[in-house]
Amino acid sequence: MFNVAIDGPAGAGKSTIAKAAAKELGFIYVDTGALYRAIAYNAVTKGVIDDTQKIIDMLTDTNVELKYVDGVQAVYLNGDDVSAYIRTPEISMGASKVSAIPQVREFLLNLQRDIAQKNNVIMDGRDIATVVLPNADVKIFLFASPECRAQRRYKELMEKGEDVTLEDVLADVNQRDYQDSHREIAPLKPSEDSVMADTSKLNLEESIQLIINIIKERIK
Ligand code: DC
Repeated sequence: MFNVAIDGPAGAGKSTIAKAAAKELGFIYVDTGALYRAIAYNAVTKGVIDDTQKIIDMLTDTNVELKYVDGVQAVYLNGDDVSAYIRTPEISMGASKVSAIPQVREFLLNLQRDIAQKNNVIMDGRDIATVVLPNADVKIFLFASPECRAQRRYKELMEKGEDVTLEDVLADVNQRDYQDSHREIAPLKPSEDSVMADTSKLNLEESIQLIINIIKERIK
């Protein structure tokens, strides 16, 4: 199987870019953030998001699955499709929190490896190149400046009709960057063998093309 790992900070456009590249190449696009979001959603609805031990205990009766229909990913929590509920700012913050818990990361590890073993994938996350798929055929670290990322996310949220300010979104981006890169386990950082892709000055189309070119070069 051909495995592509794409890591990078929140809001770098990873999911949109990886999804488009996967479609073009006929690969499955695996959004691993959705797994952490599903765990956070479970913790928030059960009222345990502020209690690490209770989150760990919760894992014993938590079942998370990814399913694909026509290349579109859906995430299932205990048999229910929760994809529509996991993109709120509250769940984003919760996902950042649960993802710092070693037991949560361990819990999700085999699920991610299993999908990559059985399919050609572009897998997007924070520790795909470093931990989940250290033998990936291509490793890309996709990033953009915090200001660029905040601006893009702000636009997205406005289009969804959410009531936020650019300052709030930038503060959120900075806080999540800090949390994701300073946690003890699997912190966000490029692996030594990753290709660095900066999308700050590129539009979406150019970013997608850059990623496709990097991958195609390795498939040859
Ligand atoms: O990519 P995203 O915004 O959906 O990720 C949600 C959170 O999950 C984010 O704060 C970082 C964390 N995450 C992680 O730690 N490891 C991954 N492979 C994917 C996401």
